[in-house]
Amino acid sequence: MKNKMNVLLSDLVLFYHKLQSYHWFVKGHPFFQVHSKLEGYYDEIKEQIDEVAETMLMTGIKPVSKVSEFASLSKITEASGDYVETKEIFDNILSDFSYLLKSVSEIKSQADEESNYLVSAKMDGLIESYSKTIWMINQSRL
Ligand SMILES: [Fe+2]
Repeated sequence: MKNKMNVLLSDLVLFYHKLQSYHWFVKGHPFFQVHSKLEGYYDEIKEQIDEVAETMLMTGIKPVSKVSEFASLSKITEASGDYVETKEIFDNILSDFSYLLKSVSEIKSQADEESNYLVSAKMDGLIESYSKTIWMINQSRL
């Protein structure tokens, strides 16, 4: 579980920067809504980064904390660092949120097997958050 949680932590750090890059470089319609929605997403992810790291510490797992470690452990593909259309942003983050949902669900299963109720309970909040975001993004695209 140690490795899976460090990968999750690293994914969240990379995802935070990806969302901020999209916030800066979004172009097209509806700019204002997407620009501010992305800020809401990265603010939430920022809280989750701290929650995950502190949950690891509480359960005796040492979290990675160096930028080089985050970059090498994460499976999140970085943003291009250039202007990007709203559709491409949502295609991309929908797949990232789905990947994160799968990751936290797997961590929860493993935590349950190991009777680690703290980690299991913490994953519930993340499962709820990503499920809701995925549902809302899908609704916006019907
Ligand atoms: Fe801003």
